Amino acid sequence: MQDMTFRAIRVLETREGFRREMVQRQLTDLPEGEVLIRVHYSSLNYKDALSATGHKGITRTYPHTPGIDAAGVVVESTHPDIKPGQKVIVTSYDLGMNTDGGFGEYIRVPASWVVGLPQSMTLFESMVLGTAGFTAALALYKLERNGLNPSDGPVVVTGASGGVGSLAVALLVKRGYEVAAVSGSPAAYDMLRQLGAHEILPREAVNDTTGRPILKSRWAGAIDTVGGNTLATLLKTSRREASIAVCGLVASPELPTTVYPFILNGVNLLGIDSATYPMPLRKQLWSLLANKWSLPQMHSLTTEVPLDQLDPYVEEMLRGNTQGRIVVDLTKKE
Ligand SMILES: NC(=O)c1ccc[n+]([C@@H]2O[C@H](COP(=O)([O-])OP(=O)(O)OC[C@H]3O[C@@H](n4cnc5c(N)ncnc54)[C@H](OP(=O)(O)O)[C@@H]3O)[C@@H](O)[C@H]2O)c1
Repeated sequence: MQDMTFRAIRVLETREGFRREMVQRQLTDLPEGEVLIRVHYSSLNYKDALSATGHKGITRTYPHTPGIDAAGVVVESTHPDIKPGQKVIVTSYDLGMNTDGGFGEYIRVPASWVVGLPQSMTLFESMVLGTAGFTAALALYKLERNGLNPSDGPVVVTGASGGVGSLAVALLVKRGYEVAAVSGSPAAYDMLRQLGAHEILPREAVNDTTGRPILKSRWAGAIDTVGGNTLATLLKTSRREASIAVCGLVASPELPTTVYPFILNGVNLLGIDSATYPMPLRKQLWSLLANKWSLPQMHSLTTEVPLDQLDPYVEEMLRGNTQGRIVVDLTKKE
């Protein structure tokens, strides 16, 4: 088996810049690890798009195979609790960052990164969610742990047509919240209505330029994937004791704010770091996503792309032109 070859996308660093190509690799090319997995599905996340275009903040050394998400079947395992034939999910940790990731037909990873596929979930469904779904679930979990409940008032989601955003809208609607979706993509408004968003706002509605430290309060909670002045505006427009789950930085990693929302309105900022979230809680969230928080409606809003046709989606995601989730199918040969 060791001299068997498999397909993988490789990102190469050349003197002219970064280039992606489909290559044949051998199992012996993969890093050390207790568990060898035949990947059936992966998904495309913003972080993958950065890694695939040579972002050294995500991936230090190239050549590299991106893919922070993978779902598949265990082929070999030296860990007593993980057996060949078992269906598993690997997201987060270092997968796809500096460890060869899910854009290859095989991965080899430490046992401590592996989550058994919940019984009522398929491998495909797990990648409809992927890191984006796990992150949205973690954000909701932390908001509710901080006291948020549907009777508190409207909850706003920014970057709503993206992976984390669309799943956050769907989860909040499922839990009974009144959801406002902020999106700069009119083409995605139908999708957001299908997900159950009660209100759709353009990005400018959450981009205050008055310089005032506090504005009319609106939101009982927020899930923000955008950062920058959008997050600063959410802080100014949050109700007393509102909580904001801070997930992303697609607009900016900066946060141009004052302390007033915190000291006058008691607003809470909750950090979301899905990559290093502890394993027992990680399994609990996957179980919730497979059962009480399941989102079957996301299937129809997911684009399924074979591995060899993934390339154009990478640039489109960086331009903000993708909607919902993109699942990568590694079961089909071209
Ligand atoms: N903290 C964590 O653990 C964690 C985990 C996963 C992802 N993330 C982060 O969360 C963010 C979203 O990730 P994703 O995978 O959901 O990405 P994505 O699918 O590309 O979605 C991002 C969305 O943000 C909006 N957007 C894009 N550029 C924008 C800009 N310049 N200004 C305002 N809005 C913009 C777009 O939605 P609209 O057109 O609808 O506005 C876009 O669809 C990224 O920063 C990612 O790194 C964090």
